[in-house]
Amino acid sequence: MSALLELDGVGVAIGRIALLEGISLSVERGQVLGLVGESGSGKSLTAMAAMGLLPLIGGRVTHGAVRFGGQDMAAMTEAERRKLRGRRIGFVTQNPMTALDPVQRIGEQIDVVSRLHLGLTRAKARARTLDLMTQLRIPDAASVAEAWPHQLSGGMKQRIVIAMALAGDPDMIIADEPTTALDVTVQAQIIQILGALVRDRGVALLLITHDMGVVAQVCDRVAVLYAGRLAEEGPAGPIFAAPAHPYTAALIGCIPQDGMAKGSLTGIPGTVPSAAAFPPGCRFHPRCSRASDLCRRTAPPVAPHDAGRAACHHPGTVA
Ligand SMILES: Nc1ncnc2c1ncn2[C@@H]1O[C@H](COP(=O)(O)OP(=O)(O)O)[C@@H](O)[C@H]1O
Ligand code: SF4
Ligand SMILES: [Mg+2]
Repeated sequence: MSALLELDGVGVAIGRIALLEGISLSVERGQVLGLVGESGSGKSLTAMAAMGLLPLIGGRVTHGAVRFGGQDMAAMTEAERRKLRGRRIGFVTQNPMTALDPVQRIGEQIDVVSRLHLGLTRAKARARTLDLMTQLRIPDAASVAEAWPHQLSGGMKQRIVIAMALAGDPDMIIADEPTTALDVTVQAQIIQILGALVRDRGVALLLITHDMGVVAQVCDRVAVLYAGRLAEEGPAGPIFAAPAHPYTAALIGCIPQDGMAKGSLTGIPGTVPSAAAFPPGCRFHPRCSRASDLCRRTAPPVAPHDAGRAACHHPGTVA
């Protein structure tokens, strides 16, 4: 199957600062790609690049290409890109409150998406809205549709945002840390709902998270980012069984156990460097127990490893 979304050697800069380098990944219909890495790794910038939204934050693609359905996004007009985002890509943000209008009833906010992008009448749009809400297991959809955002719980608000993302019948959902603001039991429900969407509707899902537990739960493939570069990418099962990159291994070691704060990464000493202070060679070397002189001098290229790819001079499994 050919990729729906493809990033091919993408570099991104804001102003004169290069923040992403050589990012290659792809997502197919019916597939969940988990994009993981600690805060500051470049996950949200990758999502912005995929949606053609970098100009909003003064950023741009400096290298490589972003293709959607085989079409180069750089060759599209801004009007075409806007249509693509509304119609073919649904976006789910971390904080549902920023995506909802506090002074508009829930149902109307979902209706407007299918009226705009599918040209539905008011009545047909409302029928579609209620149908979507029911599919997202929102109890008593008709009365929730009449509610205001502040009347709903965080988990319910995030389901509404997912309904809005789906209302235009997209081929792809990009969800940037969709459960970070929610409590643990609700998180699991939302992740389950997103996974079911992929199976039932055959949409492609790019699921961004700093939580390896979420990846283990639902992703077919994983792409691991570190300091603006791809560390490792490949099918989820083999990567969890035998990570090639020490950073991936450290993240897997950080799947929260009972009693540990969600997403806590205390297992990896140090922090992600900022673009102003990227170390030479492998950017992970100051935190890597396997670092050699070669690592300190030369950046490892992304190379095939098992069923996937990894950027490491000394790949293998941590004992
Ligand atoms: N608008 C911006 N201006 C300058 N630097 C930015 C901007 N947005 C993100 N960055 C920098 O780019 C890097 C990656 O950011 P981001 O993609 O938001 O990371 P993540 O989503 O993985 O937490 C960080 O070092 C961040 O400081
Ligand atoms: S290239 Fe070297 S420093 Fe970087 S992750 Fe691999 S072993 Fe560690
Ligand atoms: Mg982010």
